[in-house]
Amino acid sequence: MASPAPIVPCNDRNISIAAQIIRDGGLIGFGTETVYGLGADATNGEAVARIFAAKGRPSFNPLISHVPNVDAVAALANIPTIARDIADKYWPGPLTLVFRKASNCPISDLTTAGLNTVAVRIPGRDAARDLLDACAVPVAAPSANASGAISPTRAEHVSASLPGPADGGPKLILDMGPSDVGLESTVLDVTTSPPALLRPGGITIEDIEALVGPIDIAGTDDIAPRSPGMMSRHYAPTTPLRMNATSRNDGEVLLGFGPTSLHVEMTLSESGDLIEASAHLFEMLHHLDAMDATGIAVMPIPDTGLGLAINDRLRRAATM
Ligand code: TXA
Ligand code: MG
Repeated sequence: MASPAPIVPCNDRNISIAAQIIRDGGLIGFGTETVYGLGADATNGEAVARIFAAKGRPSFNPLISHVPNVDAVAALANIPTIARDIADKYWPGPLTLVFRKASNCPISDLTTAGLNTVAVRIPGRDAARDLLDACAVPVAAPSANASGAISPTRAEHVSASLPGPADGGPKLILDMGPSDVGLESTVLDVTTSPPALLRPGGITIEDIEALVGPIDIAGTDDIAPRSPGMMSRHYAPTTPLRMNATSRNDGEVLLGFGPTSLHVEMTLSESGDLIEASAHLFEMLHHLDAMDATGIAVMPIPDTGLGLAINDRLRRAATM
């Protein structure tokens, strides 16, 4: 069996090694006050695709981008007035805010799952912010566990749950001791008025309402079943989409995958590489959607590995 990811102490030397891995497009495990995260450069689509591959997650959901301070948030997002008091009081800490993307936001389309909003968090742990400082890029990080497994609160949980470096897992795990919250951050959407709670967590509804008045909790993942309001947070093209296309009909644009003699408008990956295809998916759908075609036809994608997540997303778009 291949070796699990090495667990290393969180000192200056290992932080700079970890930061270099992130900047090179690799994955690392690191501690936060909520749970351990599986981090990648949020501006690098292929790096983010490796997160989904390592977790074995059969769908793409938007990820949180982690940054060390409010200046770094302002480089990504327009911070509305209503969010300022909340940010002042609860950052750094177990709170994620969903903002409208700034016009020059460098976050990759895969990180935000094609949405025009971006979820950002400044973690509470000093060591986590030191790491983010050293990375000098926003770090996309879901919980560092295999899809469907329990969220990790210790470095050992991460190495036990995820594949090792030789199998697409993190190159190392920075041991920052046990997480003290043990529950993912509260996610609050501040693009709407009133703000909407998207995921309950460490910071409570009462904590937030004390600052901004009543908030909307209707679409919350854990309070209501998947409502249309929740689905609308997923990006899908408005042009009709057809999967498993082996030819192009009149008026359609064809999105390729793998080598082909057909005329393709764009191709997810010429060599048939699923990581490259994942990194391109949302960006190319946006582009093709803007072309005024009667339809978007997508060539077959294998239903294995990241292909599962790509096909899941295409299927949702095809049935819109
Ligand atoms: O505590 C945490 O938040 C941990 C640690 C590692 O920081 N991270 C974490 O990340 O739980 P993640 O990526 O698994 O959480 C993503 C949550 C999901 O509920 C997702 O739907 C929501 O944030 N989210 C992310 N981007 C969004 C967006 N643009 N619009 C709406 N919801 C978004
Ligand atoms: Mg999780």
